[in-house]
Amino acid sequence: MLDVVKLKDMKKKGEKIAMITAYDCISASIAEEAGIDLLLVGDSLGNVVLGYENTLPVTVNDILQHTQAVRRGSTKSFVISDMPFLSFQVSEEKAIENCGLMLKEGGANAVKLEGGIEIAPLVKRLTTFGIPVMGHLGLTPQSINQIGGYRVQGKTEDEKRTLLKSASALEDAGAFAVVLELMVEETAKEITESLMIPTIGIGAGRYCDGQVLVWHDLLGINKGFRPKFLKTYEDLYDKILTALKRYSSDVKSGAFPEESNVFHSK
Ligand code: KIV
Repeated sequence: MLDVVKLKDMKKKGEKIAMITAYDCISASIAEEAGIDLLLVGDSLGNVVLGYENTLPVTVNDILQHTQAVRRGSTKSFVISDMPFLSFQVSEEKAIENCGLMLKEGGANAVKLEGGIEIAPLVKRLTTFGIPVMGHLGLTPQSINQIGGYRVQGKTEDEKRTLLKSASALEDAGAFAVVLELMVEETAKEITESLMIPTIGIGAGRYCDGQVLVWHDLLGINKGFRPKFLKTYEDLYDKILTALKRYSSDVKSGAFPEESNVFHSK
């Protein structure tokens, strides 16, 4: 199994890191069989599984339950629980309790927190207590109301400087990796080169140490969601739709079940 030390080694050796979100047991086991390095129980769960407009309503219990499901499906993978909005900001005590729960009851190996330099003291405490932390900079969806929309980050010198400072503060606090979301490639490259810990990009260009995509987006299940940064590796929405239409039509016509699907008395 991967660990935080091996992840740093991968960066040193120039080995790229593949991460994907997973929310349930079967998808986690497929991702593990595919050799994906890191599984993130993302709070994107709110959008793609629970049907919310954004990630803000996701609860600690939602992430805990889905972390448990992912762990049941992937006994060998490095699993990261994404800490939801207001699960770590209210007090350090509450944060330690909530993050600890993911390792203690969820079976996660680490947690991910959105935020920059302002959460560095918390990251230091968590890592001191044995809770590995992945940072998350750039577009941080939990702050969408504050940021004012899903816009590309790190475009100006000022923004770049702030992001570099935050990345360095997270590394100094003991974070083992940082997600860089929706950011100009030049800024993500500079951050990546400035850190010893790996950066995992989503919409942050080619020079990050690894990449992450959301399960539903990568597989083309999220109908009509085709942002520039995304590469879809399948068009499962259409495939699933066709299969379900065939099933419905077979039931209505009596073509299913057929002889091979039924049980008989002696
Ligand atoms: O919740 C999520 O899926 C994420 C990734 C986009 C990094 O935070």
